[in-house]
Parts: sequence; structure tokens; C-alpha cells
Amino acid sequence: MPDHLPPVPPPTAPAVPPHGRRPDDAELIRDPLVEVQGLAKYFDVSKPFLNRVFEGAPRRLLRAVDGVDIKIPRGETFSLVGESGCGKSTVARTIVGLYRPSRGTVMFEGTDLATLTRRAARMPFHRRVQMIFQDPFASLNPRWRVLDIIAEPIRAHRLAKSAQEVRERVAELLTQVKLTARDGEKFPHEFSGGQRQRISIARALASNPDFLVCDEPTSALDVSVQAQILNLMKDLQRELGLTYLFISHNLAAVYHVSDWVGVMYLGRVVEWGAKRTVFSTPRHPYTRMLLDTIPDITMSGRERMPVGGEVPNPIDPPPGCPFHPRCPHANERCVAELPASKVSEQGSHVACHGVEEGRIPTHAAPGAKVGLGKG
Ligand SMILES: Nc1ncnc2c1ncn2[C@@H]1O[C@H](COP(=O)(O)OP(=O)(O)OP(=O)(O)O)[C@@H](O)[C@H]1O
Ligand code: SF4
Ligand SMILES: [Mg+2]
Repeated sequence: MPDHLPPVPPPTAPAVPPHGRRPDDAELIRDPLVEVQGLAKYFDVSKPFLNRVFEGAPRRLLRAVDGVDIKIPRGETFSLVGESGCGKSTVARTIVGLYRPSRGTVMFEGTDLATLTRRAARMPFHRRVQMIFQDPFASLNPRWRVLDIIAEPIRAHRLAKSAQEVRERVAELLTQVKLTARDGEKFPHEFSGGQRQRISIARALASNPDFLVCDEPTSALDVSVQAQILNLMKDLQRELGLTYLFISHNLAAVYHVSDWVGVMYLGRVVEWGAKRTVFSTPRHPYTRMLLDTIPDITMSGRERMPVGGEVPNPIDPPPGCPFHPRCPHANERCVAELPASKVSEQGSHVACHGVEEGRIPTHAAPGAKVGLGKG
């Protein structure tokens, strides 16, 4: 496996057959491991009660996630992309149960997590779902030896019968992430950033999970190390049949690891579909804007366009389509009416009046090749 990511191939011509549409991408996902329906998470960011009483200030809700539908097929990778603050981590944390949804459902293997009210009922879910975070140093206890860090989930879920069995399992996990059994005797500060992320992955794997939620797992690492970690994740997925929800700002990394891609804007998924569909024929103006910012490592001399404008405040989102203040295709309907997600001719799901009305021509994405940068 190479230590660098291969570049994203140039976009192809529009992938629409001359007769009829392609199958809806969602129809290709028959047996999702994870299914999220109408998921919303609001944070109460009001002033304290007494201030509100004396100042007459209203309650304020921050709509971090506001109606997200996602299906993640078994053994595959679904990636969420979007600018900072659009709600990616909140979706991830709500799916793993760190936040309670304000609305909507999270289904794991067909079971609605809200029905698992008793701790005993939730334990198997907590064993099968693990999270990997951006900063491995913060997520590893600095006072514990690596052996104890990785052994903790094994002991918590009673997955070994003796201390010897725990040690053997930790040694196996360390080897799986390309470290050595002797590394178990060391402390986290004795490792490099990339090695610490390998320890986090070993710890996540210790409970034999099926589903890993990876929130920016490589963005704190040096560029040269990022590809090694992504390749390791792909190898482990193949060996262990893992399902991933992968979150990243880095579109090259997303292209490298994903089967499915969802583009988030201000708490909603504005476009999602098979990776090749979204990268080769992006339909939503926001997806196009994101793809237009990918660094051009072929040095063709073409000017890269920065993403114009800023993500609005989710406490007071714009009416209608939340992207309309930045969209070159906005019209009166866009300012007044929230677009619903519809299946495009390419099979992807797109929430855009302009696409639905045929005002936005189908054309391939800008001729960018993607290099692996920070982000
Ligand atoms: N616990 C919280 N309390 C209040 N607001 C929050 C909380 N967590 C997140 N938010 C807000 O919710 C919105 C979405 O945040 P989130 O962290 O999910 O975005 P993100 O897409 O992961 O961003 P980034 O790419 O920077 O990690 C932001 O406006 C953020 O400020
Ligand atoms: S709905 Fe309108 S404003 Fe929103 S992305 Fe589509 S064209 Fe642009
Ligand atoms: Mg985040």
C-alpha cells in the first residue's frame, strides 16, 4: 500500500444515461447497519433563567443538526463533509449516543436506540459502536500504560477470562495496528502523533466493534502520516468487516476512504450519494463550491476559488434555503421555501430548487486533482 494518497481522477462527463435515470443511490443500500431519520439536535443557548426574566430575553435554540437522513451500509464507509460548524460532529455524537436527539431516530441494525432505555440493553450497543477522535493525546489517559488503556474496554465488556488472556488480546491489537506488543509497556507521551492515533484505533477495536465513528481522525497529524493512518483504517475495514462514519474537511481523504458521501450545510445534508456520483457530477451549488477549493496538485495554473462568504449563524439561520445568501443561482423561491431532498438524474439526493427546476446545468466538477493537505 503506498504511503501517499493517489490523486482523485479528473471528473468524467455527466454520468446520466441517454434514456431514463440511474437507480436511486439510496435503493442500492438494502441492509443498512445504521439508519438515521429526520435527526435533529438543538442546543439551548439561552441566557440564564433570571437574566431572561429581568431582561425579557427570549429562549434561544441553536439548531446544530436539523433534519438529517443517512443510511450506512454494512462494511462500507459513509463520509460527512462540510465547512466548520455545519453539524458533522453533532451528528456523530448523537449517533453514538453521547447526545440525545431533539427529534428523529437513530436505528442500529433495525433497532431504534431510543427504545434501549435500560443500561443493560444499551451495553451491547456501546460495545459494538466506538469513536475515534481528532486528538489522540486528549483521548488517551497520560498516566496509564498503553496496555491498560487498550485493556480497559476488554475488561469493561468482560471479553477475556484471565489477565493472561487480556495481555494476549492487547498484544494482538497492537500488532494489528502495526505497533509491537512491547509498546504496551510505554506511556502515550513516548509515541509520535501517528503512533498515538494507532493506539486510539487499537483501543477502539478492543471491544470487537462493528461500527467506528471517526471524527477528523487524521487532521491533527502531519501530512506524511495521514495517508498511513487512512490506509491502516482501510486494511482493518477489509479484515474485520467494519462499517465507518468518517468525518473530514479533507476532500482528498474523503475521496480515498469513502463509498458514500454526504455534504452538510448548516445542520442539513444538502447532497448525498455514491462517492463517484458526488465527486464526478456534483449537483448542489454548495458541493460544487467545496470541490472548487481542492488544491490543484497538477499545477495546471488554474486559479482555485476560495469558498465565498461564511456559514450563517445556526441560531438565526436565513429563511428558505439556508445557502441562498451565498448561492449564485438563488431566486425568490430560494429565499422563501426550504428545498426538500429529491433524487437527481444521477441517482444522488439533492436539496436544491435550482436543480429540481433544471435551472442549474449538469456539468462535471472542475478539473481538479486532489492532493492530501491539512484539514
Ligand atoms: N455542546 C454545544 N453547545 C452549544 N452549541 C454547540 C455545542 N456543540 C456544538 N455546538 C454548535 O453546533 C454547531 C455545529 O457544531 P459541530 O461541532 O457539530 O460542527 P462541525 O461540522 O463538526 O464543525 P468542525 O468542522 O469545526 O468540527 C456549531 O455552531 C457549534 O458552535
Ligand atoms: S435552493 Fe436556490 S439558493 Fe439553495 S442552493 Fe439551490 S439554487 Fe441555490
Ligand atoms: Mg467537528
